[in-house]
Amino acid sequence: MKLLVTGGAGFIGSNFIRYWLRTHRTDCICNVDKLTYAGNLKNLDDLTHGHELVCRDICDESCDPTLEDLMEGVDAVIHFAAESHVDRSIDSSAEFIRTNVMGTQRLLEVARRKRVARFVHISTDEVYGALGPTGEFTEQTPLDPNSPYAASKAGADMLARSYFRTHGLPVIVTRACNNYGPYQHPEKLIPLMTTNALEGLPLPVYGKGEQVREWLHVEDNCRAIEAVLARGVPGEVYNIGSGERHNNITIVKTILRLLDRPSSLIRFVEDRLAHDFRYALDCSKARRELQWEPQIRLEEGLQMTVTWYQANRAWVESAKNRPFKDYYSQMYESRAGYAGKQ
Ligand code: NAD
Ligand code: TYD
Repeated sequence: MKLLVTGGAGFIGSNFIRYWLRTHRTDCICNVDKLTYAGNLKNLDDLTHGHELVCRDICDESCDPTLEDLMEGVDAVIHFAAESHVDRSIDSSAEFIRTNVMGTQRLLEVARRKRVARFVHISTDEVYGALGPTGEFTEQTPLDPNSPYAASKAGADMLARSYFRTHGLPVIVTRACNNYGPYQHPEKLIPLMTTNALEGLPLPVYGKGEQVREWLHVEDNCRAIEAVLARGVPGEVYNIGSGERHNNITIVKTILRLLDRPSSLIRFVEDRLAHDFRYALDCSKARRELQWEPQIRLEEGLQMTVTWYQANRAWVESAKNRPFKDYYSQMYESRAGYAGKQ
């Protein structure tokens, strides 16, 4: 098969390319990535065969090669490219609308013209909004996004649906819970807490750390996308989760335990605006129709993950570069200062 992957220099995309080329050795992947602050060439360092990176913006139609050229002869498009960090979308949402909404529209339109046989749109559980202490999201739950990030992803989901309904483009949507694993940008909870703990830096927990997230190892998500390509039905949406739901403070304390670091590193800081309280996914449809289930339990996956960040200091340095340190210290100081005044 020939696949076109967007956003393959980011966290999930690079893990997907690595997974796919390991398990489908004769396939080839064209990876279209703009290399924003979240894209990292080091995520692709070890890929030796079957992978070609085309550095470009999915919104840009004038660039050569065009998106039309790049979709020529591809069997499937897997669309990961996005602005993906909720806190950044709260600070400034324009880029989220441009890439996540307009970029998705551009790709859908080109895929329609090129009659692409499968278009997998990678969405998120955040489009459903927030749950209280009980309940689960099913694929029928109405979309109710709260952050500009979630709203932009919900807009993209609706466009994906419309291209199936209106034009018959064989689009399939996955809505996964929070992923974790190697090569994740350290702005996200698990790599931030792990790398800060390793460096003896404070661990900023928003509010009281009571919010609940469902955690899926990225390789289980890659297997789910593989199952979608093999058995997914066009026009359908599949929730992809693990059932492993924990509040943030529990995750942070587990990381500290695994690294044998003291809980005195924890700092409770100003909460995120409109912070979604809980996500939990009903994944019975994916289990039943895709014959997929997660294989990596959280305790085992977290151990593997913290070991990876411990062993890959050069990668951590490349991700925690100067611009990241500037962004992070500004964010940390304003949150910690605010919490201190309460
Ligand atoms: P990421 O931020 O690590 O990577 C995003 C990649 O997209 C980067 O390589 C970046 O350079 C690229 N990109 C951004 N804008 C682009 C543009 N205009 N043109 C081309 N490339 C561009 O994100 P991730 O965590 O790997 O998430 C991948 C996808 O999965 C996203 O669509 C996200 O919404 C979704 N998702 C993520 C999670 C999670 O926990 N990380 C959970 C559910 C769904
Ligand atoms: P994050 O990794 O940003 O993913 P998302 O917001 O998409 O769920 O955050 C996961 C949870 O961790 C979320 O409830 C916010 C919280 N969090 C902190 O408490 N401190 C932090 O420094 C970060 C980045 C997140």
